[in-house]
Amino acid sequence: MEEYTISKSDRFVGKEIVLKGWMYNKRSSGKIAFLQLRDGSGFIQGVVEKSGVSEETWNAAEELTIESSVEVKGIVKAEPRSPSGFELQVIELKVINIAPEFPIGKKEHGPEFLFENRDLYLRSKTPWAVLRIRDQVFRSITNFFHEQGFVRFDTPVLQPTSAEDTSQLFEIDYYESKMYLTQSGQLYLEAGIMGLGKAYDFGPVFRAEKSKTRNHLSEFWMMDAEMAYHDQQKNEDVQEALVKRILKDALENCKEELKILERDTSVIERAVNEKFIRIKHYDAKKLLEEKGFKVDYNDDMTTEEEIEIGNHFGIPVFIEDYPFAIKAFYMKKYTDERNIDRAINADLIAPEEAREIIGGSQREDSYDKLLTELKARNYNVEDYQWYLNIRKYGSVEHSGFGIGLERTVRWISGVHHIRETIPFPRTTVLTKP
Ligand code: 4AD
Ligand code: MG
Repeated sequence: MEEYTISKSDRFVGKEIVLKGWMYNKRSSGKIAFLQLRDGSGFIQGVVEKSGVSEETWNAAEELTIESSVEVKGIVKAEPRSPSGFELQVIELKVINIAPEFPIGKKEHGPEFLFENRDLYLRSKTPWAVLRIRDQVFRSITNFFHEQGFVRFDTPVLQPTSAEDTSQLFEIDYYESKMYLTQSGQLYLEAGIMGLGKAYDFGPVFRAEKSKTRNHLSEFWMMDAEMAYHDQQKNEDVQEALVKRILKDALENCKEELKILERDTSVIERAVNEKFIRIKHYDAKKLLEEKGFKVDYNDDMTTEEEIEIGNHFGIPVFIEDYPFAIKAFYMKKYTDERNIDRAINADLIAPEEAREIIGGSQREDSYDKLLTELKARNYNVEDYQWYLNIRKYGSVEHSGFGIGLERTVRWISGVHHIRETIPFPRTTVLTKP
């Protein structure tokens, strides 16, 4: 017979099962004990009646401490009043390991304490729910790309040059020379799609971000996608379909997790069903100005501006065509009617203060224009010769984007700080364990 886990309780109602797990809390009256049990797949209450079990089992119930491991023999019962819908009538307890006093108890702990003890904090309900949503998002992304005919193309973590903002590079000693931890696999993917058509990568990337916001990690997971013969509008179509798919899967498959997190999902539901907004950077700034913001038309969107745009529309917004001067060298550029150089790009801003979850653009496909730009920005042209060559042999219009896994999980789960969305976060202050 199939092995029991709490998540499969619906298929075991009325049956005798063995649960292999931990006790995360308990209540006892001296005659009846209520054990809060978990096994990794979920949570369930076990009821032990002194009159109905052996003395050994009753004593075990009394002896169990928080986070002790235990094997529980019992009968699964439907229990509409419990959050999981089920309960266990305990027949027998086998103690595996008695835990000494668990540092994370019932009382409220500050985030500092919880993250110093992240290895233990991982056993709590919030991390359980958030990290399972993360797992779902990861699978939605890879499934989506597989179905859409993309090839997974793993890009190097050790890179000899910068792929984004040069001020955010982690440099490492590499034999007799220097290398950098990747900021994005994009440049390599651009080479990849000239062989494979459509490709994506998915892995950890690194940014020496001094900004201590609730949206920044030094190490995070990014999925870069790149597509030949795609202009920026087609690029945004793919992003919109991907995000809708991620949200739909999470709503369908993470119901219990979202309930534990007390997440109101109405905005997410709206994003699944309605078309995302596409607005030019200039028009977004103008809208903000009309709302009383003191905007700088030539600069990036500020934190407050991104939050306001998200609140205003209540649905994800592509902000398009940023001033070229504040964007990366590889973006395709044009000069607008106000004589401002613009990138053909978009950042996707999510509502509910989630802010930017995707950055993407059409890439410069002219060898000469890209060379001119590299020189203008004082990049070492020799280092980028291979990248220039993508434009030399059969250059085509192409575009792509990068989605931040943790930013996306933060939005869906609704947790305040991005550090909750990755098992062991790395920030300017979080480096252990
Ligand atoms: O906007 P970014 O910097 O874009 C790129 O790196 C492009 N090369 C991607 C591409 O076109 N292939 O980063 C992409 C996404 C952001 O939208 C955000 O979701 C996430 O990565 N991100 C971060 N997430 C957590 N902590 C940080 N410090 C992040 N910086 C960027
Ligand atoms: Mg960005």
